[in-house]
Amino acid sequence: MSLNQPITNFEQLNVWIIGASSGIGKACASWFAGQGANLILSARRLENLEELKHSIQLKSTNQHIHSVALDVTSSEQVGQALSQVQSIWNKVDIVLFVSGIYTPVRADDFDMDVTSKMIDTNLMGPMRIVSAVMPSLLKQGFGHIALVGSVAGYSGLPKSLVYGPTKAALLNFAESLYYDLKPKGINVHIICPGFVETPATAINDFQMPALISADQAAIEIGAGLQRGDFEIHFPKKFSYFLKFLRILPYPIYFWLLKTFVKI
Ligand SMILES: NC(=O)c1ccc[n+]([C@@H]2O[C@H](COP(=O)([O-])OP(=O)(O)OC[C@H]3O[C@@H](n4cnc5c(N)ncnc54)[C@H](OP(=O)(O)O)[C@@H]3O)[C@@H](O)[C@H]2O)c1
Repeated sequence: MSLNQPITNFEQLNVWIIGASSGIGKACASWFAGQGANLILSARRLENLEELKHSIQLKSTNQHIHSVALDVTSSEQVGQALSQVQSIWNKVDIVLFVSGIYTPVRADDFDMDVTSKMIDTNLMGPMRIVSAVMPSLLKQGFGHIALVGSVAGYSGLPKSLVYGPTKAALLNFAESLYYDLKPKGINVHIICPGFVETPATAINDFQMPALISADQAAIEIGAGLQRGDFEIHFPKKFSYFLKFLRILPYPIYFWLLKTFVKI
């Protein structure tokens, strides 16, 4: 059963991708363009967005792509970016929030500056965007909010002392949002990828299980939107394994982590 309205055709849909300058967001931009959507690409690095805008393959000649720079940690910049988006489009069909940062943190290097920055980007960032777009989405009475979380939000993992909680909170946020917005005709999706090969994971000094490419991640995200999934999680063998871990009793959970996770 689909919890959201399946999207059967992306042609001429207006898709605002926040975090499009690299990795998963960039791959999603190419995927949506290939499906015939109009795009607004956002992130801080305008030069990357401009380069992507000019290199992207469109499906048809009547599509358009714009770039609008913003820093999701600034409410002022989010407001200005939204005004720009609204001056280009009179409706937004999909808001895809991909922006995020990952810094490995363990208990013995628990730094509050790093912590604040990660919470501000990964949790407050999507909240700022959702709060900003909410009045216009409610007014139009349709649309999709899709937020990129992580399987790291399912349960506490090593090196994830701060990143994990930001993604766990985002999952919880999306659940509440779905409950409130479903009756208003607005669809909410939480996207939980496993390991994806991007600049963010290039810093990992361990072998990442079930690693997939950013292009594969974009295909999974697109397919989840087409099905109307609330939670879009992948790759399945890894995400289902982590879902199973989180329902185990804590003594077994912590024993498994200690025995098998060597990072
Ligand atoms: N790669 C993985 O294995 C993996 C797994 C699960 C979940 N995820 C999640 O997937 C998302 C994308 O990650 P990725 O791996 O593709 O990383 P990435 O290549 O480093 O891309 C991160 C994106 O976030 C943007 N961003 C960061 N801070 C921002 C800010 N303050 N304002 C606006 N945009 C900002 C970056 O753009 P600018 O620097 O230009 O601003 C960039 O476009 C993140 O939310 C991440 O947590 C990744």
